[in-house]
Amino acid sequence: MAIVFGKAHGKVILFGEHAVVYDQPAIAIPVTKVNATARILPNLEGLSGQVHIQAPDIALDMDLDALAEDHPLAKVVHLAIEAVQPTHVPAITLQVNSTIPISAGMGSSAAISVAVIRALTTFLGAPLPPLEISALAYEVEKIHHGTPSGIDNNVIAYQKPVYFWKDHPIEFLSIENPSHWVIADTGEGRPTRESVSAVRELYDTDPKSYEAIFHQIGEVVQNAKEALIAGDLDFLGWLMDKNQRLLEELNVSSPKLDVLIRAAREAGAAGAKLSGGGCGGNMIALASPEKISKVEQALIEAGAVRTITTLLPTSEVR
Ligand code: PMV
Repeated sequence: MAIVFGKAHGKVILFGEHAVVYDQPAIAIPVTKVNATARILPNLEGLSGQVHIQAPDIALDMDLDALAEDHPLAKVVHLAIEAVQPTHVPAITLQVNSTIPISAGMGSSAAISVAVIRALTTFLGAPLPPLEISALAYEVEKIHHGTPSGIDNNVIAYQKPVYFWKDHPIEFLSIENPSHWVIADTGEGRPTRESVSAVRELYDTDPKSYEAIFHQIGEVVQNAKEALIAGDLDFLGWLMDKNQRLLEELNVSSPKLDVLIRAAREAGAAGAKLSGGGCGGNMIALASPEKISKVEQALIEAGAVRTITTLLPTSEVR
């Protein structure tokens, strides 16, 4: 039996986070420089059906049976096996690794689920299409985030730039002009579940006003879709700044995010905003190719623990 390998990229949300939970669209793109990987190794000495899991990033090294059923790795393994319904599961070791920063808005949990589903279903002889991979990963996202919109599992399972709107057919963006995105980590994290529930509490204090903010974010996202396809940096930058101001009204920015956003703008970024759950985590800046290194340097000098620059390339929707 050969070793089987599954891989999934990270992601970043460009526009529309938080509002996407309240029935507005959002845009996310894959980040191919960071990945989660899953390897299945046959365990010739194990008992039939025994699944041993090794995930050094979270210091986990134990049998599936010893993990709580609602542990995300246990859940994803059970879901993948149930989806295939094999007559027999040989003894295996599942090794999970990831270079995606954790709790930083880069989709590490969804990417791990997608990589595991890809590896296991391929190993069991029935690899699943992205639609089904995304649906299974969504079930695991619920454990991490409570009420996830579903944007992470979709952009990661399809590996394409997506215009995501809950309960609408997913749209893939056919990019005509490439753009460069600098992602910078504040080094401060707050779990997405917490920032989503903080926004929910605010919303409950005055649903009408917050509904209006979500609606304005939705309008930004609709404009951003066309600007992103065309690679219109000036308009995209303006829209990012507008989206950031609206996110500030939701109270999900942070002093460190504000410092990094200002530093990126002063270094010549076309626009900058937080990305993902906020209250720490990552920010993103849009930079023309000649400004990228200046923006990266300014972000590090302003206290970013890491920058990752990703290219959104020209793409054809297939
Ligand atoms: O922090 P992330 O990248 O997992 O993104 C969270 C995005 C939210 O819109 C805040 C929540 C969601 O489920 O879409």
